[in-house]
This record gives sequence, structure tokens and C-alpha cells, in this order.
Amino acid sequence: MTKTFGLIFLIILSSCGKIENSSSLDEILYGEFTDTGSPNFLTAKAAIKANCLQCHAVWKRYLEQDFIDAGLVVRGSPADSKLYYRNLLATEGPGPHNMPTSGYPPITSADLSAMHSWISAL
Ligand code: HEC
Repeated sequence: MTKTFGLIFLIILSSCGKIENSSSLDEILYGEFTDTGSPNFLTAKAAIKANCLQCHAVWKRYLEQDFIDAGLVVRGSPADSKLYYRNLLATEGPGPHNMPTSGYPPITSADLSAMHSWISAL
């Protein structure tokens, strides 16, 4: 009986490792990454890093084109860009305006306007 439990425990443990694939997750979360791009993008990316990566960890490695390719940013139009209009303080776009979730404080208006300037100038 004990042996069976031990075996089940081992199977669960080993499958956890496979599913989570923790080494590549660690690399995404804690690996070095240098942002490159226009000054507007770098300011906006700093705002994203400060406010969004806790939950949207993959954005750490996104550059300008990645946000566009992912459908999060529409060139020249913050009102059509989810990354912008889903912020709590954003007044443009179809909404919902609810990021960050779970009681995290909204980003500052300076950070929000950095995102607005970057997307508008794209
Ligand atoms: C506390 C966790 C948390 C934080 C912090 C957070 N988000 Fe989110 N975000 C979520 C969750 C959960 C979802 C998926 C559910 C949903 O769409 O509402 C989501 C979804 C989104 C989406 C839709 C993604 C898609 O592919 O459709 C956007 C855009 C977004 N968040 C923007 C932001 C921005 C910008 C910030 C930083 C200012 C941010 N989020 C910070 C939890 C968070």
C-alpha cells in the first residue's frame, strides 16, 4: 500500500516537472534581456515592465514588432490597441478598462501617456 502511494507520488512529481518546464520559464522570468527600439518605445516598455510583467511575464521579451504581431498594438491608434485601452485610466477604446486586475494599482498617468505617445507615433 505504502509502495503504491510512493509510486503515485513519484509519477505526479515527475510529470509536474514536464508540464511546468521550469527551466525555460525561469529563463523568461529571470534571464537577461535588453530592450531595443525607439526612445518612445523604451519609455513605454519601462512602464510595461514596471506595471504588467507580474502577470504578463512573456512581455518582458517583446519588442515593438512583437506587440504588433500579437495584436496588442495597432500602429498609430491607441484607441484600437488593447495594450493601451485596457488600462484602468485609459478613456479611449472599446474597453473593458480593467488592467491591472486583482487590486494592483493602476499605472500612473505619466506611464499611460508614455504608452499613448509610443503607439500614436508608430
Ligand atoms: C494581477 C495580474 C495582472 C496584471 C498586473 C496585469 N494584467 Fe493584464 N491580464 C491579466 C489577466 C488575468 C488577463 C486575462 C483575462 C482578461 O483578458 O481580462 C489579462 C489580459 C490582458 C490583456 C488582453 C490580452 C489579450 O491577448 O487579449 C491586455 C491587453 C492586458 N491584460 C494588459 C495589461 C497591461 C497593459 C498591464 C499593465 C499596466 C496589465 N495587463 C497588468 C492580469 C493582469
